[in-house]
Amino acid sequence: MTEKATVDFMRGIAMRAPGVMATRDFYEKSWGLRTVAQGNDGTVYFRGTGAEHWIYALREDTSFGIDYIHFGMNSRARVDALHAQLTAEGISVSGAPAELSTPGGGYGFTALDPEGRRLRFSAEVSRHEDTDDSRAMPRKVSHVVLNTPGMEDLNGWYREHLGFRVTDYSADMMIFLRASTDAEFSDHHSIALNRAQYPSVNHVAFEMPSIDSFMRGIGRMRVAGQSPAWGPGRHGPGNNPFAYFVSPSGFVIEFTSEVHKVEEATHQPEVWPRDVPEKMDTWMTAGPPTPAMRTVMAGRPDAGWQTAG
Ligand SMILES: [Fe+2]
Repeated sequence: MTEKATVDFMRGIAMRAPGVMATRDFYEKSWGLRTVAQGNDGTVYFRGTGAEHWIYALREDTSFGIDYIHFGMNSRARVDALHAQLTAEGISVSGAPAELSTPGGGYGFTALDPEGRRLRFSAEVSRHEDTDDSRAMPRKVSHVVLNTPGMEDLNGWYREHLGFRVTDYSADMMIFLRASTDAEFSDHHSIALNRAQYPSVNHVAFEMPSIDSFMRGIGRMRVAGQSPAWGPGRHGPGNNPFAYFVSPSGFVIEFTSEVHKVEEATHQPEVWPRDVPEKMDTWMTAGPPTPAMRTVMAGRPDAGWQTAG
């Protein structure tokens, strides 16, 4: 039997929103990203302090939502294998893998998930050499949480077609999924699914290089006039510190750090309760999310895409 092709890692996410240019300053001065390029269509591409060429993109549009989630593949051969597999399984794809015209180039293709999200898979995107973990700035996108009205079906789809694995559950409300790698240890989750009324983005989390940087990031936001909408606290599942903010476009964004590394050989999924406060916030500093926070995390309905690209 041929081995299933699987997704290797999270690169980042491309979003769309009205008034993008007005939010660029926020992402650079307060959040701590740097513009790496601006596309011909006006899309702004941001990098972190890590090696990934770009981790977050914003495109001017009349609607709010996800343009695509960007996953990394370890080689062209793995891109080709995943493309062949998805095509054979009847998944809508953008066409054969090809050279990418986005900043950093690379080789890849796009597929459509059952709720109309575009997912891009790419290899050989150029990497930065000037990485710098000494600064209290986000180094990478840690994870994206998706609101879905079909959590069980979507969980099955990401596992069956893309090889994601369940790391943990938050009662029957959330499923944390990690990408498959050959590594001994993997990030606790690179995507998570959250039971909801309609598809939308719940939040995007940016990883700080240390707990000190995490706190300094919160401080930088405070000085800029914005306190966390929820946090700081420390999640049970993933054991990661969290501080959630609302971006000028109304997207929920998170600073995190020290996300648990799952030991592949021994890990067993755990169901974390949501009615035991210290399992929801092990530091007991954040309290539960407020109704206002839950509302903003519900996001705006994202109609998604009809085609993969
Ligand atoms: Fe998160």
